[in-house]
Amino acid sequence: MSELIQRFNRRQRLQHAAGMVVFTLLVLTGMPQRFADDGWARMATALMGGINTMRLVHRVCGIVFTCLVCFHFGGAIVALLRRRIDLSIVPTRKDFTDAVIALKHQLGMSGKKPRYDRFEYKQKFEYWGLVLGGVVMISTGFVLLFPSWTTWLLPGQFVPMSKVAHANEGMMAFLVIVFWHIYNAHLAPEVFPFDRSMFDGLISRERMEQEHPLELARLEEQAGRAMGEEPKGPPAGGSDDR
Ligand code: HEM
Repeated sequence: MSELIQRFNRRQRLQHAAGMVVFTLLVLTGMPQRFADDGWARMATALMGGINTMRLVHRVCGIVFTCLVCFHFGGAIVALLRRRIDLSIVPTRKDFTDAVIALKHQLGMSGKKPRYDRFEYKQKFEYWGLVLGGVVMISTGFVLLFPSWTTWLLPGQFVPMSKVAHANEGMMAFLVIVFWHIYNAHLAPEVFPFDRSMFDGLISRERMEQEHPLELARLEEQAGRAMGEEPKGPPAGGSDDR
């Protein structure tokens, strides 16, 4: 069996699991409100104990989601300051050239494939897209949660505007997760039928060689340097918080 390498630590996996559960609950309790006149939505509302219970669950999950986002960014800032993580998720110029190389390769115009580091351009695009979408959902969600306070601070049009933005961005986030994220993480030929790395934290050496060769080379160089100084374990990605 191929050697396994740590890609995600426990904290990252827990955040992903919590985000997954809370996001699913938000979709399940938000969509029937948006399509309230449809038969399926009335049935879903009845199954969830009626509109009041459903609204309450959505609001509680909205607040939990907001706390998770704050915790994620708070933790990332602390980890960055302590130099436990780097800025590998931030887009760079290389991502644009990688996207062009990948496109040419997929169109059969070139045999050259991009060589990725810890995250490829599609993963970064998805992460930052979800971050921006999260900011829209949280800000508009709070306007819907506190409409009178909003009109005390801002023009009244912000309330109906937020309702439209919240409903449409919610639909877009749902479609991005269902079609893009699930395809890339589980159904794409390289990972089919299931990429376990976000659940057990581990990735095979072969996949690292194929999908993240630059990161693998860096980890091996670091491990080699550490072995020269003092004996240590095998190379690992992410931070040292397993
Ligand atoms: C991120 C995932 C989320 C999704 C997919 C989602 C989806 C939705 C949808 C589809 C609606 C119905 C809009 C309509 O009636 O046209 C809704 C309503 C609402 N959402 Fe969200 N939402 C999310 C996050 C949040 C957050 C973070 C908050 C609060 C901070 C929030 C608070 C609300 C409130 C207050 C309503 C109005 C319904 C009510 O008064 O109970 N939502 N949401």
